[in-house]
Amino acid sequence: MNTTDQKNNIDKQNLPQHVAIIMDGNGRWAKQRGNKRIFGHKNGVQSVRSVVEAAGEIGIKYLTLYAFSTENWKRPKLEVNALMSLFISAVKNETKNLMKNNVRMKAIGNLTNLPSNVQNNLNEIINITKNNTGLTLILALSYSSRQEIKDTIINISKEVIDNKISIDDINENLVSSRLQTSEFPDPELLIRTSGEFRISNFLLWQISYSELYFTDILWPDFTKEHFFKAIYNYQQRERRFGKITEQTKSNKT
Ligand code: FPP
Repeated sequence: MNTTDQKNNIDKQNLPQHVAIIMDGNGRWAKQRGNKRIFGHKNGVQSVRSVVEAAGEIGIKYLTLYAFSTENWKRPKLEVNALMSLFISAVKNETKNLMKNNVRMKAIGNLTNLPSNVQNNLNEIINITKNNTGLTLILALSYSSRQEIKDTIINISKEVIDNKISIDDINENLVSSRLQTSEFPDPELLIRTSGEFRISNFLLWQISYSELYFTDILWPDFTKEHFFKAIYNYQQRERRFGKITEQTKSNKT
């Protein structure tokens, strides 16, 4: 099936609002070609471009990409520096394209840990694209879900100590509203490439009810067609949220 067929198969009335992706396999892709890991990351940028376009084409509202985890700081300095340069060049080179495609850029993570030139470029593109009304592209950079949850617990505790809220006010909605993702709906679909079956500290709170989709494709090989296939696969699933089939069909609680 070609890309157009894959796309036409998708039911536009049953789209996930938010898709999150763990982009994995750049290093192995490069190694298979006898190249350095950064060669894989560089080629991964094309896949980012493709999925951003694909998501916009079918009307997905939010796309979160795991671009750099807190744990990734432990990689060799050379690779970390190369990745930081790649983020800067990608952000700079893609500005025009993002504007053309009406994409609004956002970022989550421990952004103050990023080098200042990365922070500046990121803030600039977030500002330039802030009034766009199409896809919201959320880059997770220096992101750790446990850290996000830990910071949220600290912040909520401070609100209690400062008498801004009481313990009784703490419920799931309040926690969601204090996370870095507060302005986005939870992802209905999480994709991980490269044949790994892990979540790796990504959006742990937010993916409680997400459908998980794993593919063997290495990230630099991931195309629009693969993205559409994942959406189609999601649409074949029955999402029960703990209920039984009959209840979900008749919409009973
Ligand atoms: C995981 O593959 C990938 C990363 C840690 C970096 C992702 C970055 C990009 C795709 C570059 C561009 C991104 C943006 C947002 C412009 P890996 O290195 O862990 O691969 P491996 O598991 O095969 O070693």
